Amino acid sequence: MYAAVVTSFDSAPRYQEFPTPEAGAGELLVDVIAAGLHPRVRSQADGSHYTSTDELPLVPGIDGVGRGADGLLRYFILPDTTLGAMAEQTLIDPRRSIVLPEGSDPVAVAAAMNPAMSSWVALRRRISFQAGQSVLVLGATGNAGRMALHVAKALGAAQIVAAGRNAARLAALPALGATATVQLDGDPDAVAENLGRAAADVDVVIDYLWGAPTAAAMVSVITGRADRGKPLSWIEVGSVAGPAAAIPSAALRAARLQIVGSGQGSVAARDFLAELPELVRAITAGAFVVDARPVPLAEVERVWADVSDAGQRTVLLPNG
Ligand SMILES: NC(=O)c1ccc[n+]([C@@H]2O[C@H](COP(=O)([O-])OP(=O)(O)OC[C@H]3O[C@@H](n4cnc5c(N)ncnc54)[C@H](OP(=O)(O)O)[C@@H]3O)[C@@H](O)[C@H]2O)c1
Repeated sequence: MYAAVVTSFDSAPRYQEFPTPEAGAGELLVDVIAAGLHPRVRSQADGSHYTSTDELPLVPGIDGVGRGADGLLRYFILPDTTLGAMAEQTLIDPRRSIVLPEGSDPVAVAAAMNPAMSSWVALRRRISFQAGQSVLVLGATGNAGRMALHVAKALGAAQIVAAGRNAARLAALPALGATATVQLDGDPDAVAENLGRAAADVDVVIDYLWGAPTAAAMVSVITGRADRGKPLSWIEVGSVAGPAAAIPSAALRAARLQIVGSGQGSVAARDFLAELPELVRAITAGAFVVDARPVPLAEVERVWADVSDAGQRTVLLPNG
């Protein structure tokens, strides 16, 4: 079969022949229809993800949509493996899959599940989010940030403040559920003032940025807060702006702030899996706007180098 194959962490995967796997006990061989090129997949393929074991060669891809000999269309999540989803065929554990209704759009599901899961699981498994609470999405212009607007709305958020860098993408977010937007580019004092005005009293922050923007935003939100005794849950989900943030110690003392992370490890695999059916239902029902770019897997090397797709989720089609 053909697959995207990583033989060095310094170079992009190449489309080449790879041994067809054979299913062992508890495994199902599926024809992969669609596999998302998520940031997590890039970090898997360059060896930088915290779960990397440095084993090569590897076929990247952490999830996807496929069909096995039982004829069922499934969304699947793979375990940490060197045989990922970016192959004509892969091995799945059916217990880590959800059967999709026939007629579901495999590209939309493959594009949306990973980014949508980030906020869905964070709000449902890492804090006890209540309908009527208000949310700040920090880094709302990416795929996961945009999905977080849908998710927060679906879970009953009263106010959703979207903060992001790209002005054009930010301007599109009220149509997706943002009740206010804050531009993160520009004069730092103006950014701080705008964040303080729009988001100082939120109950929850879903943070895709980390790094310097998070440290600055935390100060703005806390110092602008009308009631510092009101709980503030800051959920660290992504780190596109930097792996470390200089959080002032006073921020932790001056307000009722709790910082938690949400991701592989802090949420057990069984808890991720338990959240899948409801999220799949929302996505296959068309409740979320999904912006996907389907590309044949044969073009993997070219699209890997193209990082101009931040507004869209690239989805590779191994059999298309
Ligand atoms: N923990 C989890 O469960 C989980 C699950 C999924 C994703 N994630 C993580 O969430 C993050 C976002 O994923 P994604 O799928 O949304 O990626 P994406 O679609 O590639 O979007 C990334 C966005 O980050 C923004 N960005 C990059 N550097 C920035 C900076 N310095 N300041 C402000 N914005 C910046 C860009 O915004 P502009 O367009 O405004 O430039 C871009 O749109 C990644 O770190 C990913 O690994 C975590």
